[in-house]
Amino acid sequence: MNDAARTTVLLSGRGSNLKALIQHQSGYKITHVVTDKPEAPGLQLAIEAGIPTSVVPRSEFPSLSAFKAAVLKTVAASGPDIVALAGFLVVLQPEFIDTFHGRLINIHPSLLPMFPGLHTHERALEAKVARHGCTVHFVDAGIDTGPLIAQAAVDIEPNDSPESLAARVLAKEHTLYPWIVRAIAQGDIRLQGRSLSYSERARTEAQRMGATIFS
Ligand code: GRF
Repeated sequence: MNDAARTTVLLSGRGSNLKALIQHQSGYKITHVVTDKPEAPGLQLAIEAGIPTSVVPRSEFPSLSAFKAAVLKTVAASGPDIVALAGFLVVLQPEFIDTFHGRLINIHPSLLPMFPGLHTHERALEAKVARHGCTVHFVDAGIDTGPLIAQAAVDIEPNDSPESLAARVLAKEHTLYPWIVRAIAQGDIRLQGRSLSYSERARTEAQRMGATIFS
C-alpha cells in the first residue's frame, strides 16, 4: 500500500478509537467515517475533524439485508485501502468480508479468544483472570473470530471495577490500533490465507510497545 493508505472507519458510538486514529495518523489517512447511528458522538468527532462522513441508519431500510447492502455500497464508494471497525455494532455480511479481505480489521476489548462479544470487562472480572486487554484482528464471518494480529494486556488489580479496568484497556487500545493500521498501510503486516506475516520492523515495534503478535 502507498504511504497514506485511505482508511474508512466504521463506528456506532463514542469514537475514542477514531480520535486516537486521527491523532496518530501517519502512513494512513482517515478519509471517511461511516456510522449507522446519527446520534453517535464519534460522528461529531469526525465532522469536527473535517473528515467526510456517511450516516446509514437501519430505520431507513425495509430489511436488514437492504441496510447491510447500503453499508457495503457506502464503504466501497469511499474507496478505502483499509477498513477499520471501531465499535461498529453491526454484524457484517459475508459479501462485505470478502470484498475487503486482508484489509478489514476490528478492535475488541479482550484478549481473544477469551471473551468474544459484549461486556468483556465484567466477564473478565467474574472469571478472575489475572490479565485482560485488547486485540486487533482481521475480520471473518464469525463474531470476534478472525485471525489475531496483536494484543496489548493489562494486569487486573484487586480493587478493579469494570469501569477502572475498561479505562486501562482503552488506553492500550488507543496506542495499539493506530500502530496496527499504520503497519498494515506500510505492508509490515499482511494476511495470507488465515496466516499473518510480520516484517522485522513490525516485530521490533511490537516488542517496543509490549504487544503480543501471532506468528
Ligand atoms: C472499544 O472498546 C472497542 O474495543 C470496541 O468498542 C469500543 C469502542 O469504543 N470494539 P470507542 O467508540 O472507540 O470509544
